[in-house]
Amino acid sequence: MSSHLRCENVTVSFGGVIACNRITLDVSEGKIVGLIGPNGAGKTTLFNVLSRFQDYEEGHVYVRGQPVDDKKAHEMITNGMARTFQNINLFSEQTTLQNILIGAHHRIGGPFSNMLWLPNSRRNERELVNNAVEIATMLNLDMELDTIVKNLPYGFQKRIELARALAAKPEIILLDEPVAGCNDEETAELKSTIQQINRDLGVTVLLVEHDMSMVMSVCDYLYVINFGANLAEGTPVEIKSNPDVIKAYLGEEDE
Ligand SMILES: Nc1ncnc2c1ncn2[C@@H]1O[C@H](COP(=O)(O)OP(=O)(O)OP(=O)(O)O)[C@@H](O)[C@H]1O
Ligand SMILES: [Mg+2]
Repeated sequence: MSSHLRCENVTVSFGGVIACNRITLDVSEGKIVGLIGPNGAGKTTLFNVLSRFQDYEEGHVYVRGQPVDDKKAHEMITNGMARTFQNINLFSEQTTLQNILIGAHHRIGGPFSNMLWLPNSRRNERELVNNAVEIATMLNLDMELDTIVKNLPYGFQKRIELARALAAKPEIILLDEPVAGCNDEETAELKSTIQQINRDLGVTVLLVEHDMSMVMSVCDYLYVINFGANLAEGTPVEIKSNPDVIKAYLGEEDE
């Protein structure tokens, strides 16, 4: 199976804290891969490395086998990568539609495209808006397109983040706790949306999430990290019965 996103021996430290200690993982093309581990394990830091928001002291990151160590965060979208953030990171004074369209800005063309090819750029803009509306409809946001984001409930804002990431037409999407703080109904809805994004749009997914029932049912493969290091990897069935994982992580969540 071909590798879509891979990192090898990634090390990041903040002062004395080693957030990632030689972490290696591989996300196969077309799969939904989960990254789990206790609070402070280094999941968000690794996400920031993979999306090039964070520099690393050691290691390499590859997209489809090509090194991206020298890329900037904003260049990753031209590598087909989009992400969401653990903490909601929207323009709260703007509308749902405006926020979704921000995700598509790299599709507008060069800085002068607006001036040089006015008819074309109008058509392009219409196309982007149509696409944003399509995504909003898929995420049940179409009734709130003109609502100012800060007036919407939390679950909506989480979905707008996902919609904005999708507006970039990514080939791979990194989701950092997409259902955190959502109620059961919102979680079930987001779960099926993630499956739909993967199955219908063919987008590879890397998912960080603490909601174990969701992770276990949605992921094809899992990586577990603990104290910034690889602890285990395998299918959800393998991970559920892995004694190291139970001890370090799943044990905490015993019902
Ligand atoms: N910018 C930063 N400066 C200093 N320390 C940081 C920074 N970002 C993360 N850390 C530390 O690095 C470690 C890993 O944090 P990280 O946020 O990656 O964990 P996480 O697995 O995402 O946790 P959670 O499940 O709580 O989101 C923690 O000890 C954290 O305090
Ligand atoms: Mg985190």
